[in-house]
Amino acid sequence: MSSADDQKRASGETAAQLVENGMVVGLGTGSTAAWFVKALAARKLTDIKGVPTSDATAALARELGIPLVALDDVKTIDLTVDGADEIGPGLSLIKGGGAALLREKLVWEASTRCVAIADAAKRVPALGKFPLPIEVVRFGHVHTGHRLADIAAEFDLPPPRLRTAERGVVVTDGGNLIYDMASGRIDEPAALATALKSVTGVVDHGLFLDLADEALVGTDEGVVRLVP
Ligand code: 5RP
Repeated sequence: MSSADDQKRASGETAAQLVENGMVVGLGTGSTAAWFVKALAARKLTDIKGVPTSDATAALARELGIPLVALDDVKTIDLTVDGADEIGPGLSLIKGGGAALLREKLVWEASTRCVAIADAAKRVPALGKFPLPIEVVRFGHVHTGHRLADIAAEFDLPPPRLRTAERGVVVTDGGNLIYDMASGRIDEPAALATALKSVTGVVDHGLFLDLADEALVGTDEGVVRLVP
């Protein structure tokens, strides 16, 4: 049986083969995306530009010699490859486990083609086992958290919790905070997405709906390609 890391690596390496010279490539965030970035660098393509979705990915790409460009300095991105925390029906996704969901979504939305890469455990029959990350502005975040709790209750979900780590409250690259909505099961992801976006303090959330064009999932039998 292959390990999750073997599967992540295989999906990242397969995705790296999709890149051609001349492309602007969105570089995802997380351990699977890091395999993609490493495999892409190893191809030594002479004419590609990367748009990183986090400071961590930018640092890795720079270290490996991938030229970078800012999102605002390109019209479109040809291909974005990024990890996922869950891959549900129709390639609906939960992302943001690495707190990069805002830049990730901005890059995905600017892309012609978006490919999710993951290990097999990320496939789920319904979204929600992985807590849904919600990025909020710092100002008044406790009040925003109360409004999120009201929305959670409407959807029969428990109140979201402010994300903390060893060094205290987690702050995103954009200076915002993350609330995680541990749900168990999200029955109406589109309705939940709309409700979350209606809260003024919410910058964005980790529901990536109708954004992935395909997924490359590492399995014991090799990398499987999924389409919506
Ligand atoms: C970061 C993300 C990651 O892509 C997601 O958390 C998957 O991470 P990994 O590949 O390490 O399992 O959304 O914000």
